[in-house]
Amino acid sequence: MVTMVGERIIEIINLTIQKRGRCTVALTGGKTPRDVYSLLGDEFNRDRVVDWQRVQLFWGDERIVPPEHQDSNYRMAKLTLLDHIEIPAENVHRMHGEIPPEKAAAEYDNILNEKFKENPPVFDLILLGLGEDGHIASLFPGTDALEEKEKYAVPLFVAKLNTWRITLTLPVLNAAKNVIFIVSGKLKVKIVQRIVNAKQPDKELPATMLQPKNGSLEWMLDSEAAALL
Ligand code: 6PG
Repeated sequence: MVTMVGERIIEIINLTIQKRGRCTVALTGGKTPRDVYSLLGDEFNRDRVVDWQRVQLFWGDERIVPPEHQDSNYRMAKLTLLDHIEIPAENVHRMHGEIPPEKAAAEYDNILNEKFKENPPVFDLILLGLGEDGHIASLFPGTDALEEKEKYAVPLFVAKLNTWRITLTLPVLNAAKNVIFIVSGKLKVKIVQRIVNAKQPDKELPATMLQPKNGSLEWMLDSEAAALL
């Protein structure tokens, strides 16, 4: 699965750069994408031409921790990808988890307004993982963040984790041109089946609320996560 996901990401980036001269990508956090980012930063960085100078990197969500903290989504991407590719620092737009969440979210909202001319911002590619509870980015089941229609990035307290997060909101996720779900492992088999079989959007299953208006939604699953499909 890792190679297939890596190839697809590179394909979308290069096609977009050919068409528009630049590509905007929102990275997902969590553990699943680590191997994909490592592949992009290592083998693929040697063998496949990606003009990272023309790529603008963002994040779909972040934990409220400093960038060097082991839980930081930025740190994970830095160690696996950013430290291995030639991408200008000004092309990397991390969410500032080291400052108060309200401030960090407002700051990110401003960056999105500055970097995108469309409202809501239209990402060329958004990568997403899937939580066992059906959350995407840090849009957790039943949270008010799922109702946000105006802001593009919001803070939220995730009671079940007893922690604050910053996350992109559904208007941004649903405006993307390409969305790729990267899901692996047997722990995700039931939630994948529930999401794929859902008949309508459900606030208790945030992934069902992901319905890109003018974009593609692709599921990249390993055999374990896809076992009940
Ligand atoms: C995060 C992610 C989150 C993640 C899912 C799946 O900050 O944790 O953005 O949405 O994608 O929780 O996480 P795993 O890949 O670790 O299973």
